[in-house]
Amino acid sequence: MSHAEDHEGTRRDFLYYATAGAGAVTAGAAIWPLVNQMNPSADVRALSSIRVDVSGVDTGTQLTVKWLGKPVFIRRRTPDEIEAARAVNLDELIDTNAQNRMDMTLDASDQNRTLDEAGEWLVMIGVCTHLGCVPIGDGAGDFGGWFCPCHGSHYDTAGRIRKGPAPENLWVPVAEFVDDSTIKLG
Ligand code: FES
Repeated sequence: MSHAEDHEGTRRDFLYYATAGAGAVTAGAAIWPLVNQMNPSADVRALSSIRVDVSGVDTGTQLTVKWLGKPVFIRRRTPDEIEAARAVNLDELIDTNAQNRMDMTLDASDQNRTLDEAGEWLVMIGVCTHLGCVPIGDGAGDFGGWFCPCHGSHYDTAGRIRKGPAPENLWVPVAEFVDDSTIKLG
């Protein structure tokens, strides 16, 4: 089952394509407790994975879906966003871990956070690593990525923390493309 929904005349940020049981959420300042439940065991993960149709996500837009009770940002990045993210040296970063739940040994290079090799698709848990607000996207903040208005955390176009109190990069969940237009979370 999938559905698309327009909201207030704009499709940016308000496109939702999700499979059974996944509700839609909007970006905002709601509090989402950040608890360590993003690494479930394999059997739990099988029960809790969802498939998201991303065929309607245009370059430069973000789809937000709710998964395991949290917002997940699926951004299709522009060439400029990819270039900006890949031009950053690791020693400029606050958190040098990719925070990629598929492999926690990876460094925070842009390539270690994106879903595809070209870096077009960036999937992240949309929860600020400071105290759990939902950051604003669409190029917000001083680094053109996401901005958390609760206490002023700025994330870059790879979702890495660059300024403010958040200690970690936005988390990258277990995710993969299962066909050309479907991403499986979990
Ligand atoms: S919760 Fe995001 S900056 Fe504090």
